[in-house]
Amino acid sequence: MENLHYSRLSPFLFLFLLLSTQTQTQQQQDTPITRFQRYLQINTAHPNPDYSSAISFLKTQAEALNLQVQTLHFTPNKDKPILLLTWLGSNPSLPSLLFNSHLDSVPAEPSKWSQPPFSAVRSSDGLIYARGAQDDKCIAIQYLEAIRNLKANHFSPVRTVHVSYVPDEEIGGSDGAAKFVGSKEFEDLNVGFVLDEGQASPGDEFRVFYADRTPWNVIIQSKGTPGHGSRLYDNSAMENLMKSIEVVSRFRESQFDVVKAGKAAFSEVISVSPVYVKAGIPSPTGFVMNMQPSEAEAGFNLRLPPTADPDFLRRRIAEEWAPETRNMTYQIKENGPIRDCKGRPLLTPTNNSNPWWSVFQQAITAVGGKLAKPEILASTTDARFIRQLGIPALGFSPMANTPILLHEHDEFLKDTVYLKGIEWRWNHEFLFRGPWLISIIL
Ligand SMILES: *[C@@H]1O[C@H](CO)[C@@H](O)[C@H](O)[C@H]1NC(C)=O
Ligand SMILES: *[C@@H]1O[C@H](CO)[C@@H](O)[C@H](O)[C@H]1NC(C)=O
Ligand SMILES: [Zn+2]
Repeated sequence: MENLHYSRLSPFLFLFLLLSTQTQTQQQQDTPITRFQRYLQINTAHPNPDYSSAISFLKTQAEALNLQVQTLHFTPNKDKPILLLTWLGSNPSLPSLLFNSHLDSVPAEPSKWSQPPFSAVRSSDGLIYARGAQDDKCIAIQYLEAIRNLKANHFSPVRTVHVSYVPDEEIGGSDGAAKFVGSKEFEDLNVGFVLDEGQASPGDEFRVFYADRTPWNVIIQSKGTPGHGSRLYDNSAMENLMKSIEVVSRFRESQFDVVKAGKAAFSEVISVSPVYVKAGIPSPTGFVMNMQPSEAEAGFNLRLPPTADPDFLRRRIAEEWAPETRNMTYQIKENGPIRDCKGRPLLTPTNNSNPWWSVFQQAITAVGGKLAKPEILASTTDARFIRQLGIPALGFSPMANTPILLHEHDEFLKDTVYLKGIEWRWNHEFLFRGPWLISIIL
């Protein structure tokens, strides 16, 4: 700044200069890191996610990049907004690319964190602490930063690129991605390929996910003759339920054995977790102990990989877990399909039959990245709604050498890992070719 004589300026002018200098400094300091921090500071944790602040922040970013911006609403009171950004390609008739992330995050317990979970504090060794740092606000901003870099290099895509920000992933996505993917607006996007969230990798290989597992909640109930606690007799409700629990346990072990023998990954088998048992006649001090109850119930959480045969499992539950012959009944709540709209397993092929896969793989290796064997995600993400339409979708969050901290206390992401996700270049011919492969596919 020039040699100004502040003493001779009026206090108002001084204040004005001070403020404008500060604003200038702030703008100068607005970097990919600070933009990430600002997004992390917006509390979009359940149960009261601040979607409107998140959307207005992203919208400002997108407008500065000259992207087309739309806010879509699929709920009557408009409290579950979806932000859709569009970067028009030179040939919009080609199937488009969609980069998705969710706006929300799971809650955080501040008392268990070493830093306030929505402060996005960056430690001296570059760790950015915040709920959502890994899951999945990093990719949300990386998409925008990759576009920023591409635009700065006067790159323009052939295919149209869309970026979507959806609510409610952490609570099942029924008012978020499910409604979006089922809409006319989505159909009109003519989406050819989708990237959604993945997970961190403690090693130096990137992880990529080509399927999710589908959760089933299974409840089995038994009825039987009640009786005195002293009596030995057949077919009590508890006996019938205990027999079933043994059968379920054996099935669980048979699946687990495959994993223990190294023949499959955890996420490739059907997992069965007993979650509750409900029986007994309550008394003021606990349960009536000299009475065998007439009803009993148990609940299990199952996770089915897309390779599982749902009909086989349904039959097994009906015939072995809760057979009518033992006076048992059951309910299965299937939280999503395991076949796509054409009846194929709900997965994105990771071989040459899928041209998008080949391009994705090339994009990673071309920038010197290593890709781990593609995995089925043990849990679920919004990508399942997209795969259901038969559209290929991969889960990919480029976080190598990073402990897996999603949903944990002290979730963090190292600044250099975050930046690498944006700034990887392939080679000088091809401008910025981040792992986002925006480049190669375009
Ligand atoms: C099923 O219930 C009926 C009627 O309560 C009872 O007579 C029969 O013994 C029960 N069978 C079994 C296997 O529990
Ligand atoms: C590619 O993978 C899919 C899904 O796993 C499989 O059904 C198909 O047979 C594979 N195709 C080739 C050419 O390997
Ligand atoms: Zn997530």
